[in-house]
Amino acid sequence: MERIVSLCKRRGFVYQSSGIYGGINGCWDFGPMGAELKRNLKHDWWYVNVLQRDDMVGLDASILMHPRVWEASGHVEQFHDMLVDCKECKHRFREDHLEGSVCPDCGGELTDAKAFNSMLKTRMGVSDDSSTETYLRPETCQSIFVDFKEVCSSSRTKVPFGIAQIGKSFRNEINPRNFIFRSREFEQMEIEFFCREEEEDKWFEHWKECIWQWYLDIGLTESKIRWFAHPKESLAHYSKRTEDVEYEFPFGWGELQGLANRGTYDLKQHSEYSSKDMSYVDQQSREKYIPTVIEPSAGVDRTILAVLCDAYEEEELEGGDKRTVMRFVPKLAPIKAGVFPLVKKDGLADIAMGLEKKLRKKFATFYDQGGAIGRRYRRMDEIGTPFCVCVDYETKENDTVTIRERDSMEQVRLKMDELGDYIAIRCSHERD
Ligand code: GAP
Repeated sequence: MERIVSLCKRRGFVYQSSGIYGGINGCWDFGPMGAELKRNLKHDWWYVNVLQRDDMVGLDASILMHPRVWEASGHVEQFHDMLVDCKECKHRFREDHLEGSVCPDCGGELTDAKAFNSMLKTRMGVSDDSSTETYLRPETCQSIFVDFKEVCSSSRTKVPFGIAQIGKSFRNEINPRNFIFRSREFEQMEIEFFCREEEEDKWFEHWKECIWQWYLDIGLTESKIRWFAHPKESLAHYSKRTEDVEYEFPFGWGELQGLANRGTYDLKQHSEYSSKDMSYVDQQSREKYIPTVIEPSAGVDRTILAVLCDAYEEEELEGGDKRTVMRFVPKLAPIKAGVFPLVKKDGLADIAMGLEKKLRKKFATFYDQGGAIGRRYRRMDEIGTPFCVCVDYETKENDTVTIRERDSMEQVRLKMDELGDYIAIRCSHERD
């Protein structure tokens, strides 16, 4: 894990937030490579789950909501972790993360457990007495429930259908840990899929298949993912059934996403707390009912961590050389093509720069003329660039370039004007 964290910092994937002030626990910044990787991941999720389906619409709601939302959702009452303090070193732990009955840091005696609400409070408004206390949302899905009727009336959706949203969530985690796995500020990709109660199991199975396929499509190794079905007694207050996808991280198996049957809990709660009828009316039969909700809820940052861990490889090459390579599937790679002149002189740099400018209209590119060509390839391998294009003397004779593929390191010659499509097709989010 340390090597992945170190590469992330060195190559601009992830930095600790506020590093020059000593950092702030549980917050992370995505650097230039991380920002691209994250954008590509979110785009792929949206492409597959929203754009390619005719039973899904998107939403981009505000983070701050009316404080009553969090009373209705059950978060004010129930969104608690039980925490214990060490009487000696004063360190604080989540009770369910402890293995023994003494402090894991110093062996000291622990206090009794007390409840700690994990929502982050904030104030809205200018003066202390008139401002409203509310929360930074701890999950994105509540705005989907609150806006359910607006979406229905403005987008001609018919049950069964889903509303998808990607956005920031905040939780005051007691022990943020394992790099970006558990943080206080993170992003979620959530779907609330509304269906009839009689069809809840059918849609639960449907989403199980879609979710599994997506993790394979973004390159995770199948033997490193598994489903975990929550026993009835450990279900969240809103859930009738929950199964999680877990990934085998270097620190052990960890939850990537949940798939829950939330039943009618949320819409009923919001009906009661807002006194607005949240039921759905079937336009044909005029039947009125509260739909059941199947919720696939994934974490962007955890998925990114799984992608980083799965892609990372230190490879021994023929001749004893080593390279570190990030084997991202091309559609996720931050940079799709590195473009190099073999040497700077004899007009090769000008041709390479012109080519790179043309290619960047189609996808993310990187121009590099510094150092030996082998080192330039290694730098691109480390950030997972799937293709490297080299302009050499033959280019001047017949307008062809070499294109080197990251994983096999094989090189082929291609006409410069075929290059854009060649790379774009291989990096596309499209799938059959
Ligand atoms: N709306 C349901 C919900 O929020 P959850 O299991 O609490 O369910 C869903 O969260 C996903 O959000 C998790 O599977 C995980 O990927 C991500 N997530 C939750 N807490 C997180 C944290 N503190 N840091 C990073 N990701 C987190």
